[in-house]
Amino acid sequence: MARCDELAACSEETDRITRPYGSAALVAAMEQVARWMELAGMAPRRDAIGNLRGRYGGSDPNAPALLLGSHLDSVRDAGRYDGPLGVLVATATVERLHRARRRLPFPIEIAAFADEEGLRFQTAYLGSKAVAGTFDHALLDRCDASGISLRQAILAFGGDADAIPGAALRPGEAFAYVETHIEQGPHLESVGLPLGVVTAIAGQTRVVLAFRGEAGHAGTVDMTLRRDPLPAAAEFILAGERMARETPGLVATVGQVDVAPGASNVIPGLVTLSLDVRHPDDAVRREAVCALEHDAREIASRRRLGVEWRVVQEQCAVPCDPSLSSSLERAIAAAGLPVERLASGAGHDAVVMSAVVPVAMLFVRCKGGVSHNPAESVQAPDAAAAIDALDRLLDELATERPT
Ligand code: HGY
Ligand code: MN
Ligand code: MN
Repeated sequence: MARCDELAACSEETDRITRPYGSAALVAAMEQVARWMELAGMAPRRDAIGNLRGRYGGSDPNAPALLLGSHLDSVRDAGRYDGPLGVLVATATVERLHRARRRLPFPIEIAAFADEEGLRFQTAYLGSKAVAGTFDHALLDRCDASGISLRQAILAFGGDADAIPGAALRPGEAFAYVETHIEQGPHLESVGLPLGVVTAIAGQTRVVLAFRGEAGHAGTVDMTLRRDPLPAAAEFILAGERMARETPGLVATVGQVDVAPGASNVIPGLVTLSLDVRHPDDAVRREAVCALEHDAREIASRRRLGVEWRVVQEQCAVPCDPSLSSSLERAIAAAGLPVERLASGAGHDAVVMSAVVPVAMLFVRCKGGVSHNPAESVQAPDAAAAIDALDRLLDELATERPT
């Protein structure tokens, strides 16, 4: 818990936690975690996109490894546990193994991913995609808000865009990925349990859309002559909220609105919005995105506005591996806790890793389910329970994979 507090001080902003990809704050966080990895007997290294990867050799260092981990980047004004708790629970588990001089038949690799949230380049999972070998090189030309390309940011972060293929797992290099993460929802708290096993992770679509009208003088343009994109955006936001409220399991969020030129006495000319749509069933999500695009175009045409609609990220729903999840359930039971299964509305690096290895996720209760918010809160006994469960998972897997 103290380590989570220490990492919380690694931020690009003095009064809140903001740790985007490639930032000095993320470098500081990675350097600190690398030191804790060394204390756990691990050999830390940075890969070509800047992920921190710590290796703990088993009796046969060439045997397929168990991958643990989560991400160290954050959203803006983040909580201190979303990402770091998973990395630090994994590191504490290896430290316990190391101190007890217990030998496992397989190596462990902890991945502290460098960009799960997508805060800087509006596309998530850059770190885990490099490890899974699914990194899209077309993204290298994508620029952040200050015009720096991802290729430049990787270089400045100590990485090498051309060497990213080398960061990918080779076939057989790992046999599973297990991620520990705060639930970011209220379920575990509602049933009074510290831990849960994730059954599936919801799919998500991220869109950037814009309504384009005509900027003008707030005092002289008659209301009947305006082509104001901001009321159009307001109509669209309400349409999204209404559809999500009327569709079970669907969530739709506009988290960013940019009004240009952005002066109180100027009728806006351009309004740009983000849209995040999620659902456990991909067909329902896709249908909702289609319907919302139709709404945006209808609103624009009725209001004589231009409209742009760009899908910047689409990720299908991912079921967790049943066999690996059963091992995790046995480990939780062996730690003396009831087993609780639940789905994840939040996305995680496990979504990306599922393309190359079986994945399972261990959820940890968080107060009120609050996350992506500085009020994010985890109790020490729940973090301790997660370390116990992960520790017992190592024994479970060792018995299942004796060689
Ligand atoms: O947006 C998410 O679900 C995750 O926090 N990146
Ligand atoms: Mn997260
Ligand atoms: Mn998050």
